Amino acid sequence: MLKQVRIGVLVSGGGSNLQALIDAQQAGKLPDGQLALVLSDRPGIRALERAREAGIPALAFDRKAEGAQAVEQRMLEALEQQHIQVVVLAGFLMILSPIFIRKYAGRILNVHPSLLPAFGGKGFYGLKVHQAALERGVQVTGATVHLVNEIPDGGRILLQQPVRVRRGDTAETLQRRVMEQAEWKLLPRATQMLCRRIIKEEHHG
Ligand code: GRF
Repeated sequence: MLKQVRIGVLVSGGGSNLQALIDAQQAGKLPDGQLALVLSDRPGIRALERAREAGIPALAFDRKAEGAQAVEQRMLEALEQQHIQVVVLAGFLMILSPIFIRKYAGRILNVHPSLLPAFGGKGFYGLKVHQAALERGVQVTGATVHLVNEIPDGGRILLQQPVRVRRGDTAETLQRRVMEQAEWKLLPRATQMLCRRIIKEEHHG
């Protein structure tokens, strides 16, 4: 087995996308990556418990108390210290600075709960995305995994999965179905694809 790519996962909430990565790793679906570090921009969230239950080192920062800039600086130090090569944003709500993005150019993945470019960009996150989709009356929504660049939700699209909107859907029922049928499938797959590509690049020089 060639050396695995070390993955850092950044979280801000329930961590269901982190859990999808953990489950994929345990099922042998992430052969070229290793979940090596979980970083959170707020303390006491369920994502941190999921990391601990999986035996993954986790660090919680506090954006409210320390401010985004200080938290990002400390995250960069932790990622460096742990020799992280790929950063996965799994329900992570902080906007990263150009410095961070340049340091990990082409190595940061984000999962967004719509078919970008629809319902993407500034202000579209969490339930707001599904509320906007229901208000617009789209019949199909879904999820996107993309590389992260300086434009919020603007980086190269890697994978998308459609999900039908059902009559009577609320933002909550739609969010749940988009997570189950799209996000939790796409994020592990895209992460494995990126790790594979990195290994091949490193191996062939
Ligand atoms: C959800 O809105 C999900 O659609 C988006 O981030 C939020 C929380 O995800 N990707 P998680 O459960 O913390 O992974």
